[in-house]
Amino acid sequence: MCGIVGYLGPQNPKDIIISGLKKLEYRGYDSAGVAILDNGKTKRVRAQGKLKALEEKLVNEKFDGHIGIGHTRWATHGKPSERNAHPHQVRGINLVHNGIIENYLDIREELLAQGAEITSDTDSELVAHLIANEVEVTKDLFKAVEKTLNKLRGAFSILVMWEQEPDRLVAFKDGPPLVVGLGEKEVFVASDVQALIQYTKKFVYLEDREVASIRGADVQFFSANGFPIQKKVVELNWNPEMVEKQGYTHYMLKEIYEQPRAVAAAIEPHVNPEFFSVALKNIGFGQSVQKLEELDSKADWEKTKEVLKNIDRVFIIACGTSNYAGMVGKYLIEQLAKVPVEVDIASEFRYRNPVIPPKSLVMTISQSGETADTLAAIRMAKEMGATTLSICNVRNSTIDREADGHLYMNSGPEIGVASTKAFTSTMAVLNCFAIGFARLRGTMDEATEKELVKSLLAVPSQMEGVLAYDKYFEEAASKLKLFRGFLYMGRGSSFPIAMEGALKLKELAYMHAEGYAAGEMKHGPLALIDERMAIVMVAPTDHLYEKTISNLEEARARGGKVISIGTGDNEKLRAISEHYLAIPKAHWTTNSILTVIPLQLMSYHLACNLGYDVDQPRNLAKSVTVE
Ligand code: F6R
Repeated sequence: MCGIVGYLGPQNPKDIIISGLKKLEYRGYDSAGVAILDNGKTKRVRAQGKLKALEEKLVNEKFDGHIGIGHTRWATHGKPSERNAHPHQVRGINLVHNGIIENYLDIREELLAQGAEITSDTDSELVAHLIANEVEVTKDLFKAVEKTLNKLRGAFSILVMWEQEPDRLVAFKDGPPLVVGLGEKEVFVASDVQALIQYTKKFVYLEDREVASIRGADVQFFSANGFPIQKKVVELNWNPEMVEKQGYTHYMLKEIYEQPRAVAAAIEPHVNPEFFSVALKNIGFGQSVQKLEELDSKADWEKTKEVLKNIDRVFIIACGTSNYAGMVGKYLIEQLAKVPVEVDIASEFRYRNPVIPPKSLVMTISQSGETADTLAAIRMAKEMGATTLSICNVRNSTIDREADGHLYMNSGPEIGVASTKAFTSTMAVLNCFAIGFARLRGTMDEATEKELVKSLLAVPSQMEGVLAYDKYFEEAASKLKLFRGFLYMGRGSSFPIAMEGALKLKELAYMHAEGYAAGEMKHGPLALIDERMAIVMVAPTDHLYEKTISNLEEARARGGKVISIGTGDNEKLRAISEHYLAIPKAHWTTNSILTVIPLQLMSYHLACNLGYDVDQPRNLAKSVTVE
């Protein structure tokens, strides 16, 4: 993970780097640092802990230079400490790194044998040593980086600066993302466009094994073996406010409240509100991401139909919250389109030699579009000849670029480390996909399509309705501190919601929670239940409701305290629950988009109550670009 920022231009690098790192802190927050060339000499400041610690150290530091690099770290090799913080410095070479150097032990041994003085426990510093050795011979930073790349194995991105070439930055990507931002007489580099959007809207996305050589305002791109390449400049239409908190206490809270808008934006490209029909437009099978906007929507839907008609099996691959969205997708696609769906955790899928029969569609879900395991899974599926389709939030991300077809969450930037709006938007997109796919396969008639599209279009305002009850979720959360553990349960598409609810509680409030299929209670978890165990039952009124209630009664009979999520004014459920949290009446296909909101808010309030950092939970990072 880790976040990288670099600047070369007339402005003060310190301010730009720090403001960029603030936007990237979601990528790692156990130490941070900057290095700026000030009159030909490096001035480097690093600090353990969050960026704030670095900012405090920088208060009285003055920098005169015009070139600098910065980093916020999520530790892989070497514990969080100042000595392991980046930038690493070796004989005038300054380097920041994101990712993992797999052969670092061999390199370390070799460097130690040569008498190198290694001052940290990181794999990153070793790369700085190798470049410093090369540059003594080449006298050219670009060439030194190029020579070093052949010695490194792993998935990593680096940004390097050298005291002897004070108008040059060299960036290389092979794995974790790196973008070059183009300004007026200035150039920026960052792990994510969010860091730079307030300075420029023009970006070049580096692909794997590409190098950017920046000299002054001139940027040239090369393949790792030195061949010049032409890159397309992408102009983004984001505005800087989209990445600000806008008066909310946390990004996460802002993002929870943005969900109605995000879901509406996710649905909008695919539904026709006049005829209540679905057309999956601009998926662009076989087209590059850059071409999507130019597609004729009608023609593209015809092409999409052609591709999907040939599909008789779906695999959904993702990690964490995105995986739970995929599980909801399984219920939708299997029940509506009658096509078998397998859902897999990306890190399992990629190493289990999966059998992917011909006519399979491999769909990946990733908010960031950069998750290492999901990326590896989609590459593997492509190699095995499957048609691939990605659902991403970040357009132009690596997974988005590599997929054959493209769907978007359209949630806008998600900065809170715990995913919220990307999850609900994905479920909305999966609704559209399942309806479109079902119509195409003839497993759904027009009347059902209309009914489902109407219920989907109603979701944003129903979500507003759920959000308006936040004070009840907060009240429920205030009672949760006392419990020893939490069992979240649900049946059908509420099962993945139970898993997601449990994950939110774990990652935000650091409390033990498990998500279970309610029907599994008798097969083990019942033994856990006593009065110190909270049961969070996701029980909207659907075809499984009665069975869910029986499971709830079993838990109550053993002393479990119940918090239930149900539909409307459900007196029965209210009577048997300590806390009853209501969602509006909805179709089973959209219930999940609503039931998760009380769970998100309960975890949020509980974590705030306990004094935890909800935007940056301990040990986590938003974009998991290493295995
Ligand atoms: C949990 C969470 C993670 C991510 C997972 C996949 O709140 O955010 O579990 O869902 O790391 O990330 P993406 O969707 O970016 O591939």
